[in-house]
Amino acid sequence: MNTETTVQFVISPSTTPTPHDQITASIANPVFGRVFTDHMATVRWTNTLGWHDAKIEARRPFQIDPACAVLHYAQEIFEGMKAYRGEDGSISLFRPFENARRFRASAARMSMAELPEALFVGAVDALVKVDQDWVPGGDGSLYLRPFMFASESFLGVRSSNEYVFCVIASPVGPYFKAGKSAVTVWVSDQYTRAAPGGTGAAKCGGNYAASLIAQTEAAAKGCDQVVFLDAAEHKWIEELGGMNVFFVMDDGSLRTPPLSGTILPGITRASIIDLARQEGITVSEEPYAFETWQADAISGRVKEAFACGTAAVVTAIGEVRHAAGEFKIGHGGEGPVTQRIRTTLTGIQRGKIADPFGWSHHVA
Ligand code: PLP
Ligand code: COI
Repeated sequence: MNTETTVQFVISPSTTPTPHDQITASIANPVFGRVFTDHMATVRWTNTLGWHDAKIEARRPFQIDPACAVLHYAQEIFEGMKAYRGEDGSISLFRPFENARRFRASAARMSMAELPEALFVGAVDALVKVDQDWVPGGDGSLYLRPFMFASESFLGVRSSNEYVFCVIASPVGPYFKAGKSAVTVWVSDQYTRAAPGGTGAAKCGGNYAASLIAQTEAAAKGCDQVVFLDAAEHKWIEELGGMNVFFVMDDGSLRTPPLSGTILPGITRASIIDLARQEGITVSEEPYAFETWQADAISGRVKEAFACGTAAVVTAIGEVRHAAGEFKIGHGGEGPVTQRIRTTLTGIQRGKIADPFGWSHHVA
């Protein structure tokens, strides 16, 4: 059985590639996750062959049996990462081995086959190379979506004996409406995202399915994202539907909820912690109660708050709404600390400033 990373990608370029002028038009102003590149990467796993059949081919629909395991018991995990075009035209990824490691951890939690990290990054690299014309310049990027699902046709409840790993790519601009300097969030008092012992730290589709009702409620309240509190006490701030959260305190320190097992260990979160500590900024990873956040925002002890993640990058939180009222953070727009963190992080990602940690991974 092949458990190694010696799998080679067979590349079969699309016979109907998108013409250049059409690619240029598609990547000029893309809506998040609507436009896709010409190709996809796939690797299959079976309990008898291990990882095999690695391909880059024209993007096409999957044909799956109605009894396909993922349709019934939701064994599915994914990742989110971006390829950036530097000012010199070169293309790079940001800490792709961290995504590969998290993907393995998600697979382990969901009792799925664990893809070797080099194969994960190899698939992403190969796809980005083939579809490199789709990587926008400027503030855009090519969003990459590696994912894996249980592909065995079988209705018994047990781990699948077959999986399909796939990577697709989509040129993207801002996740939130362009030009929005800060978002408004809704604190869910009714729904939780993850409980101790559950799957909160895994990037599995089921977590997002469970969050959608709260996200719909947030949208109905005029909010951009939902904030989840912990499942046990309904007191402690955990994270947003698709992002981690930070608070900027009046003494200049940063605060963010700890990795308790119920939140996603964000790579953006980890990078911001490293960057801040390197600058001598104190970062505390301590539980923070929603009620304290409200009191601190009103008293001025909390100066700024921001959401962070691959899709959201670093986005200021300007206003918070909840069942009993609402409050503003600072002046309701992006504060100076949030702006500086955003500029530093995106500068490293786009090769505009020095990369002290060696986070950029050159592709083409
Ligand atoms: N939390 C959730 C629930 C997410 O979906 C994401 C996005 O992937 C994050 C946090 C941030 O993770 P990362 O910074 O690795 O993109
Ligand atoms: C990402 O940031 O990659 C995510 O998966 C979150 C989602 C809001 C797109």
